[in-house]
Amino acid sequence: MEMKVFASFIWCALLLLQLSPGSHAREIYEKTLRNDPDDVVKPKEHHVDPTLSVFFKVDDLYLGKKMPIYFATNNNSNRTYLLSREEVGSIPFSSLKLPYLLEFFSIANSSPQAKAMETTLKLCELKPKKDEFKFCVTSLESMLDMTRGIFGLVKPKVLTTKILSSNHTLFQNYTFVKKPVEIYTTKMFACHAKAYPYLVYYCHGQKGHFTNKVFKIVLRGENGEKVEAVATCHMDTSTWDSGHVAFRVLGVRPGGSPVCHFLPADNLVWLAST
Ligand SMILES: *[C@@H]1O[C@H](CO)[C@@H](O)[C@H](O)[C@H]1NC(C)=O
Ligand SMILES: *[C@@H]1O[C@H](CO)[C@@H](O)[C@H](O)[C@H]1NC(C)=O
Ligand SMILES: *[C@@H]1O[C@H](CO)[C@@H](O)[C@H](O)[C@H]1NC(C)=O
Ligand SMILES: *[C@@H]1O[C@H](CO)[C@@H](O)[C@H](O)[C@H]1NC(C)=O
Repeated sequence: MEMKVFASFIWCALLLLQLSPGSHAREIYEKTLRNDPDDVVKPKEHHVDPTLSVFFKVDDLYLGKKMPIYFATNNNSNRTYLLSREEVGSIPFSSLKLPYLLEFFSIANSSPQAKAMETTLKLCELKPKKDEFKFCVTSLESMLDMTRGIFGLVKPKVLTTKILSSNHTLFQNYTFVKKPVEIYTTKMFACHAKAYPYLVYYCHGQKGHFTNKVFKIVLRGENGEKVEAVATCHMDTSTWDSGHVAFRVLGVRPGGSPVCHFLPADNLVWLAST
């Protein structure tokens, strides 16, 4: 028995050595092993959750940087454009109206779609945390109204991560093929498409003094695919929950070194253009 444990440990150590130094996969692996001694006996590849491979440090922002990244397409919605206010006009958007909505869209009560709709509605109804603003938009007009309210007379720019391949590999190694470019802005918010019968965006941003940085990063995947990615770096994480997964993945503390992450392809990043 002891021999088996020892053998597993050696196997594990060898595995760690094979992972490229500094890679996040390796960091996750090491953390997992350190925090849970049982995993030393039964190492499992699936403990490295690829979807966490979107976080990185500001020190990683250089030409030639190579790292494994998970680029979700996250196509939560079958629609790629927002409906007009007229089209959504009479459809309620409230978790209290869920039974009516399920009937309206002919969705079975206990189906995964019903659950997803409820999750989206509840998320949209959650009060914002004290240092953030948030809102959901269900139509093009409400999106434009919200951006006007936030940016005023400044015409905003919208950025997205573009996967320039018809044969996208969700998780693979990418290399930064150009020097990352910072997009200077003093205001920003991001919108994520959420599961719903029509396109609904959940948008949120930082309130008060703006401390984020936005970067455009051109990457080339091991399979040859090109990705023009948008990434944000949160320079001040002191107000974040200490249990935030990014801290565990990067091995940093709240208020410690900045946390950067790539944005999935279905996100819209609105910022003040200069
Ligand atoms: C998108 O449409 C397909 C086929 O009509 C359906 O199976 C799927 O559940 C839809 N996805 C969402 C997120 O509504
Ligand atoms: C979701 O993404 C996959 C992969 O990019 C694509 O093949 C598929 O058509 C998309 N589905 C929808 C409903 O947009
Ligand atoms: C990335 O490359 C390293 C070696 O350079 C390899 O061990 C690892 O499995 C690769 N990761 C992915 C996701 O392909
Ligand atoms: C898509 O990419 C995968 C992984 O790189 C490759 O094995 C496959 O042959 C590609 N398929 C096409 C149609 O290009």
